Amino acid sequence: MHVLRLLPLVLSTSLLASPSPSWHNPPLLSPRQSTSSLTVDLTKRYQTIDGFGFSEAFQRANTIVNLPATKQRELLDIFFDPIKGAGFTILRNGIGSSPDSSSDHMNSIAPKSPGSPTATPNYVWDGKDSGQLFVSKEAWKYGVRNIYANAWSAPGYMKTNGNENYGGYLCGVSGQRCASGDWKQAFADYLVRYLRYYREEGVEVSHLGFLNEPEFGPSYAGMLSSGTQAADFIKILAPTLIAANFSSVGITCCDAEGWSHQSSMTSQLQSAGVESKLSTITSHSYTSSPNFPLSTTRRVWQTEYADLQGAWQAAFYSYGGAGEGLRWAGLIHSALVNANCSAYLYWIGAQGGATNSKLVRIENGNYIVSKRLWAFGQFSRSARPGAVRVGVSGAPYGVQASAYLNTDGKLAVVIINTGASAVKIAVDVKGGWKTSGANAWVTDNSNDMSQIPIGVTEAGVFSATVPGRGMASYVVVE
Ligand SMILES: *[C@@H]1O[C@H](CO)[C@@H](O)[C@H](O)[C@H]1NC(C)=O
Ligand SMILES: *[C@@H]1O[C@H](CO)[C@@H](O)[C@H](O)[C@H]1NC(C)=O
Repeated sequence: MHVLRLLPLVLSTSLLASPSPSWHNPPLLSPRQSTSSLTVDLTKRYQTIDGFGFSEAFQRANTIVNLPATKQRELLDIFFDPIKGAGFTILRNGIGSSPDSSSDHMNSIAPKSPGSPTATPNYVWDGKDSGQLFVSKEAWKYGVRNIYANAWSAPGYMKTNGNENYGGYLCGVSGQRCASGDWKQAFADYLVRYLRYYREEGVEVSHLGFLNEPEFGPSYAGMLSSGTQAADFIKILAPTLIAANFSSVGITCCDAEGWSHQSSMTSQLQSAGVESKLSTITSHSYTSSPNFPLSTTRRVWQTEYADLQGAWQAAFYSYGGAGEGLRWAGLIHSALVNANCSAYLYWIGAQGGATNSKLVRIENGNYIVSKRLWAFGQFSRSARPGAVRVGVSGAPYGVQASAYLNTDGKLAVVIINTGASAVKIAVDVKGGWKTSGANAWVTDNSNDMSQIPIGVTEAGVFSATVPGRGMASYVVVE
């Protein structure tokens, strides 16, 4: 957190099995529309995609928990169902550090200090985790396997300032001593205990982070750290995970406020020799944008961004404002294509209130879905975890395209049309690809991933019409 701040058809196998005969019907374009041609090059392979997601931290999850049952199911479908919803594949949970659950606090699993770092901790599990356990279990049922558990802070008694809020450092990292001792191992044990609670509940956490915006000491939970100080802790955390049978959990770092700061922190992690102990470099986009690749061998995730203050905007395109779906489509595209990101997460999925800090607004037991969610869905439903981004070229002015080869062989091309007019876009795949089935979906002001006609020529070229100020995903199989 930075500031306190339907119904498309499934890509059915039968449809995919038979070549689409729809090239001549229905007519896809008016006679004056020209066709632009993109070329996919499967030999150009870039990063592997882990997915797309959001958080329900700081008790935002309770807005879902508290919905009436029918609305709750509809909303969970909209988030996680890969056929009728956006098909999100990553959930970012906050690991609590608060001694209580007042306001939007995320309560700690060890709210009371045991007195010293080596004393036996007083762990308690409330079976709720600020509503996040419910959402996690639901996401798990839909097949979500990227569960990112992220501590904003250690409990206050482990920190130099004795408080989970207002910054402060973890006692025992470089240059930060405390009278109470060195709490690095105790904090590592604490995080492992949290992972075990989730395992006992049937949800395996896949990624573990221990910082949020560590260059910033806000009035809510947060902890300061340099990359070097993060490395001091990673040297303890990594062997602790392995010894506790959590070697499958990938350590992330550092959820910096912006890309440039994360770039410096990443260099410090490398200098300290811990890069190989990490699975993923994580960063937010508030103070600088993911428009260049971070220099690392690890996967890179953009783990938090939102239009925090803008008045609620549900449209895909209105006037080019910060909350519009089309803008978010472009931001996701840029992070994937220009910054080598393997994942892109919005800040909050669902919560109340009148800003764009969430994808879905909860009001009076009901929900309102913004088109930002469908911009994510166009990517998330077509580029599934494990997909590899591949080369695509030839996008005309005003159009952005990216392409992904999924592990099940489906090729997805995600096309954003920022221009006012519809464009017909044909896609050719180099190197003897023979398209045998194709589907396409569009989102714009009047469609939420609506299925549209897509034609396939005998040569295997597939084409559809992308509406002005809209986006399309083509998903094809050989
Ligand atoms: C280790 O964790 C795996 C899940 O990753 C579990 O299946 C296995 O039973 C655990 N082994 C022990 C000894 O706890
Ligand atoms: C992109 O990220 C991968 C790890 O996911 C890395 O191996 C590769 O070198 C990165 N490419 C660039 C251009 O940074």
